[in-house]
Amino acid sequence: MNPQDNKQLEATPTVFTNALTQSDKTQLGHLPLDLFAAIDSLKKELNAVILAHYYQEPDIQDIADFIGDSLQLAKAAVNTNADVIVFAGVHFMAETAKILNPDKLVLLPDLNAGCSLADSCSPKEFAAFKAAHPNHLVVSYINCSADIKAMSDIICTSSNAVKIIQQIPEDQPIIFAPDRNLGRYVMEKTGRNLVLWQGSCIVHETFSEKKIVELKVAHPQAEAIAHPECESSVLRHASFIGSTAALLKYCQQSPIEEFIVATEPGIIHQMQKQTPYKHFIPAPPINNCSCNECPFMRLNTLEKLYWAMKNRTPEITMSEDTRLAALRPIQRMLEMSI
Ligand code: 13P
Ligand code: SF4
Repeated sequence: MNPQDNKQLEATPTVFTNALTQSDKTQLGHLPLDLFAAIDSLKKELNAVILAHYYQEPDIQDIADFIGDSLQLAKAAVNTNADVIVFAGVHFMAETAKILNPDKLVLLPDLNAGCSLADSCSPKEFAAFKAAHPNHLVVSYINCSADIKAMSDIICTSSNAVKIIQQIPEDQPIIFAPDRNLGRYVMEKTGRNLVLWQGSCIVHETFSEKKIVELKVAHPQAEAIAHPECESSVLRHASFIGSTAALLKYCQQSPIEEFIVATEPGIIHQMQKQTPYKHFIPAPPINNCSCNECPFMRLNTLEKLYWAMKNRTPEITMSEDTRLAALRPIQRMLEMSI
């Protein structure tokens, strides 16, 4: 595939299901009546910590020891004393936790919980892209595989991308991968020219500019807020743009009481918990579907989280060579985002 012509996401529709099949259930055994209590007792038994992203289903967010955006979760993975990390998020996030904790058991409730951005950037194509741009520093968004991290100089997240690019000398050419929308946003904020890999998030590219404008007309007091993975046609209507953690903080601190939220609606659970008197409207997708929900994040369920802890599988693994190569750019990010 020509990396500039990222058609593969539309071309290969994937069928997602988060339900356990009958054969899974037979193999796994009986589910306890009180899943929350059973998970709590497994947590003690394993000395485990549950780290969850804001896009997880409400029950998982409620049972987690720590909820955060990608940067906060990476930092939590560095700081934990637990022997087992149960990562309620997607594969690249759990992989980052493993890169930082080679001696810990890192569990992901559903190993198929991937990410369209990470999938848009294959190591072979990225190697060719890098070779076509010699002397460029590679800054990769954390939403990429360990192999891509291993080919990068610095990792960033949506909460520190601007700060990281600003710390790189002006005359240094930079490749930014894999998200073209975050890359374009960072270019606007920093005035830097970045060579962009043309990857994107299927969730954040689904929001309809027309429907957001209609909502703003119908709710004149409401402010639109957006994640930088959204297209510029959506970002231009947002009063605030930021990572999931930044969006949450903004809604909590703002005197405004109504928001149109252009990111995965899982975060609205925390927004509503923090400020129950405020009104949060999920930004609608172009089609009449639930495609504003991340199909990968939603593969994890409380049931699967229980079975993962009970059976200590599925586990995240990788070769030590890849881990060490991927660790270096993550450490650089952590040093540059203090
Ligand atoms: P955050 O780092 O803002 O939580 O973003 C993660 C993500 O996958 C957004 O789609
Ligand atoms: Fe990946 Fe998009 Fe899902 Fe985030 S919301 S995990 S970027 S597919």
